[in-house]
Formats: sequence, structure tokens, C-alpha cells
Amino acid sequence: MIPKFLMNVLRLTTLAGVITCLSAVAADLPQYDDNQHLGVASCASGVCHGSVRERTGTAILQNEYVVWSRQDRHRVAYQTLLTDESRRIARNLGLENAHQADICLDCHADNAANRSARFQLDDGVGCEACHGGAEQYVSTHVDDANSRADNIAAGLYPLDNPVKRAELCLSCHLGTKDKMATHKIMGAGHPRLAFELDTFGVLQPAHYVVDEDYRQRKWSGDSMQVWLIGQTRSAMQTLSLIEQRLDTGKRFPELALFDCHACHHPMSDQRWQAGSGTGQAPGAVRLNDANFVMLLTMVQVLMPGEAQALHQQMKALHNAVASGGSVMSAVAALRQSVTRIETEAPARLNIRSANDLLNGIVAAGREGRYRDYVAAEQAVMAVDMLLSRTKRRDDHQSWLDEVYDAVSDEDAFEPFRLRAAFGRFKS
Ligand code: HEC
Ligand code: HEC
Ligand code: HEC
Ligand code: HEC
Repeated sequence: MIPKFLMNVLRLTTLAGVITCLSAVAADLPQYDDNQHLGVASCASGVCHGSVRERTGTAILQNEYVVWSRQDRHRVAYQTLLTDESRRIARNLGLENAHQADICLDCHADNAANRSARFQLDDGVGCEACHGGAEQYVSTHVDDANSRADNIAAGLYPLDNPVKRAELCLSCHLGTKDKMATHKIMGAGHPRLAFELDTFGVLQPAHYVVDEDYRQRKWSGDSMQVWLIGQTRSAMQTLSLIEQRLDTGKRFPELALFDCHACHHPMSDQRWQAGSGTGQAPGAVRLNDANFVMLLTMVQVLMPGEAQALHQQMKALHNAVASGGSVMSAVAALRQSVTRIETEAPARLNIRSANDLLNGIVAAGREGRYRDYVAAEQAVMAVDMLLSRTKRRDDHQSWLDEVYDAVSDEDAFEPFRLRAAFGRFKS
């Protein structure tokens, strides 16, 4: 099956910007906040966020509702639960139907507990599913006297902060302890989930513009930082899921945490090689370590002193999973490393390191490090982002077409073809 986002991805243009620190902000995910969710209609008036055209002379575009309702897949997330495909998934799982089951609604709608009378569940993943229940901020967030901090205190979820944004997107696009597209749900017919924070933010499509004014008002990082934080947060969330769902004492752990194609590929397609990054013997089921594979290249470029330790820790986790060692201590060690990367690496990003990162990813591709489809997909999104960020995308368009082509069909993925394509990159 061709991942749908890949069909759109070639039209990407990424955001550019300058670099600042991330500030820590505590906030509940919108689905679980205490504030009442008022419904999309409360945001959609023509004088608020429902302008047909982008407004000029105002800080925000004010056509956010129109962009969301016409172009954003989140708008149809609930309708998806009414399709034949969802009916089949529900039937296979023994559910009465999908559109009334919390295990589907938790990701395909704004399934908050506290809803106003105007709230419509069939609006799908609406404004407040990302921006937070509007009960307290709806009447005050337009008031210039209110600072951004005031609005956040009144329940606006701090989405400009990439750590908080990643946590929100990943809650549905990867899963949490409370909701997950498990292998059981996938076995019933649900598609595999893939995610990269920067790419998916652009594809959504973004209903905001990161310009000088935005950077004054909000977070002022750039697409590389969004990508980096997306990788570190995905890695952290993966570690939490491993902790919560791997050591459950069941004979088979949660298989959705593994690389799907470690199991799902034809037997005639033999691809095992000695010396692969995981250090595993033939026949081992590999965890989905795509974010860690990206972090390893990132660390080799930005924090080279840490690279060897990170690689050892990754191998220790794979070993623990394959041979029954302590998964928990491997998770704890990795969590410390990822925390250090998240704290120290963003400040080291600049245009020069963007080039080094690009070269690092290409070099790893030439060595064949992206043998697993999940890692290959992340590598391709990363080189696209980096070529955009360094304004060289146009010069490399035909090469990008080639690497996208190599990952366009996950069932027909040939690692050697991707490796050869990386070999043809001209720096
Ligand atoms: C409440 C759950 C939820 C949250 C939060 C969420 N998404 Fe989604 N997203 C979905 C669902 C469900 C779909 C699939 C909708 C459909 O096609 O039915 C989706 C689809 C998408 C797509 C389209 C993918 C494709 O294959 O075309 C993009 C892009 C996307 N989301 C980006 C994001 C980003 C970026 C964030 C965070 C800012 C985010 N999402 C937050 C649930 C969520
Ligand atoms: C952990 C969150 C999560 C859960 C739980 C979940 N989904 Fe999804 N679902 C998603 C996301 C995210 C996508 C979009 C995947 C993409 O395109 O990247 C999606 C995509 C789909 C699609 C394909 C939509 C399309 O546009 O092709 C169907 C059908 C679907 N989900 C049905 C269901 C049903 C039925 C349930 C309940 C049994 C369910 N989902 C539970 C997050 C979830
Ligand atoms: C899938 C998540 C998601 C959904 C759904 C969503 N947004 Fe957003 N929105 C974002 C993200 C991410 C940003 C960028 C971060 C920020 O500026 O807070 C953003 C930014 C904005 C901004 C700020 C622009 C600026 O320049 O400061 C407005 C206004 C906005 N959204 C309105 C809406 C409205 C209205 C809806 C519903 C029609 C909506 N959003 C639905 C994720 C979402
Ligand atoms: C440890 C091996 C293993 C891993 C890893 C694994 N699966 Fe499976 N999968 C299986 C087995 C075994 C079945 C049951 C096959 C059957 O019923 O014929 C199955 C069934 C399925 C089915 C139903 C196939 C059918 O014929 O109805 C789908 C779809 C699926 N898996 C998707 C996935 C996805 C997506 C992932 C990754 C997130 C994944 N699997 C990871 C072993 C695995």
C-alpha cells in the first residue's frame, strides 16, 4: 500500500526561521483538559476564523476554519469511521460500530468528556482537539490586553512549543498508554501509522504562517528544530510504549511496536545481512527503531562524543527484547541520552550543521543503514526537509524523485535500491 502522505509530500515547501530556546510549559492534552469544548461552530464565524480569504493587516490569517474544512484530513476523521473500511475493522474487532466506539473516537474525533450543547462529535478532529477546550479563552483570547501566557493559563494548548506540539500529534499518530492503534486493530484492517512532525505539519496543511510577526509573538525556531524535536519526542514516546506494552507477561508483546516488515514480507525476499546496526542474529524480530536510527546520525553530526554510547544503548535494547535481558534498564539508559540530545542538540543547529546533517544522512544511506522501511521513510523525509532548509531543493529535484520512488510502495520496498539512490547524490 502506498502511504498516502507520500503522494502529497513532493509538493512540500518547508518553513524557515531563526533559533531560540524551548521553554517548558505544563499542559494537559486537549482531550483530557477540564475546560468545556464548545465545538468548531464557536470558532467558525466569518469575523473570527471563518474568513473565506486570508486577511491582511491582522496577525493571524482568520481563514483557519476554511482551510481546515476544505483541505485538512482531520475534518473527515469522523466520517472515516462511517466508511466500509471502518465497518469491516469494527466487525473484525467485534464492535457494534466504529463511530460510537471510544477506541476509534479517541483518535478520529475530539472525544473530550466536557462538551457544550453546540459541540458536534462528527466535526472530527476539530479546533479544540488541538488548541484545547475554549470555555475560558473563547471570549478573552482576542483581547490585546491578554498575553500569550494568559491565554495558555485559560486553556489554550501551547502548540507553538514543538515539544508540546509533538506530544499532541503523537498521541494520535503514534499512541499513548491510553490509546493506541494496536496490532489487533491493524490486524483487523487499520493502516500502519507513520509520522514526522515537520513534514506532517506542512502537509496538514498549516493554517498559519511562520513570519517575523509570528516569531515575535510565539516560538521562533525553524523546520530543522521542529524535525529534531519530532524525532526526540517520538523516541521518548516509543520508550514509554515499550515500557507500558512490551513487558506485559503475554506470550506475544504488542507487535505494533515492531517493524511491520520484520514479519510481513515474502520468504523469497531474503535481506538479512551481518553487521546490521541492531547487532541481531538472523531471524530476530526487530523493534521499530526508526527514530533512534535518525537520532544516531543526528548525534554523530551534532554531538559526536555521544554517538558511541547511543549506539551501544540501542543495541542493548534490541538485545534485551530479543534475548530476554532487562528491557527496563535499556529503556532508562536511552531515555537519559534522548533527554540530553533534546536539551543540547537544538542550539547546535545552523545552516552549516544542516549541510553536515544532510551529508551524514546520505552517508548512512550509502552504508545501507536504512534497511528497514520505517527508517527509510524517515530518512527520505529528513533529506527533503534539509534540502528545503538549505534552499537546494530545486537543484536536487530529480534525485529527490528517485529516493521518493524507492520508498513509494512499502510492500515492494527494496533496501538495495534506496542504497543505490543515496549513492547517486551529488553534493
Ligand atoms: C485527536 C487525534 C489527532 C491529533 C491530535 C492529530 N491528528 Fe493528525 N490525523 C488524525 C487522524 C485520525 C487522521 C486520519 C484522518 C482520516 O483520513 O480519516 C489524521 C491525519 C493527518 C494527516 C493526513 C495524513 C495523510 O496520510 O494524508 C496529517 C498530515 C496529520 N494528521 C498531521 C497532524 C499533525 C501535524 C498533528 C499535530 C499538530 C496532528 N495531525 C494531530 C488524528 C489526529
Ligand atoms: C491511536 C490513534 C488511532 C486509533 C486508536 C484509531 N485510529 Fe484510525 N487512524 C489514525 C490515524 C493517525 C490515521 C491516519 C494515518 C495516516 O494516514 O498517516 C488513521 C487512519 C484510519 C483509516 C484510513 C483512513 C484513510 O483516510 O484512508 C481508517 C479506515 C481508520 N483509521 C479507522 C479506524 C477505526 C475503525 C478505529 C477503531 C477501531 C481506529 N481507526 C482507531 C489514528 C487512530
Ligand atoms: C491537528 C491540529 C490542529 C487543528 C485540528 C487545528 N489547528 Fe490551529 N494550529 C495548529 C498548529 C500546530 C498551529 C501552529 C502553532 C501555533 O501557532 O500555536 C496552529 C495555529 C493556529 C492559529 C494561530 C496562527 C498564528 O499566526 O498565531 C490559529 C488562529 C488557529 N490555529 C486556528 C485554528 C482553528 C480556528 C481551527 C479549527 C477550524 C484549528 N486551528 C484547528 C494545529 C491545529
Ligand atoms: C512478530 C511478527 C509481526 C509483526 C512485527 C507485525 N505483524 Fe502483523 N501479523 C502477524 C501475524 C502472525 C499475523 C496473523 C496472520 C494471519 O492471520 O494470517 C498478522 C496479521 C496482520 C494483518 C492482517 C493480515 C490478514 O491477512 O488479515 C495486518 C493488516 C497486519 N498484521 C499489519 C501489521 C502492521 C501494520 C504491523 C506493524 C505496525 C505489523 N503487522 C507487525 C505478525 C506480525
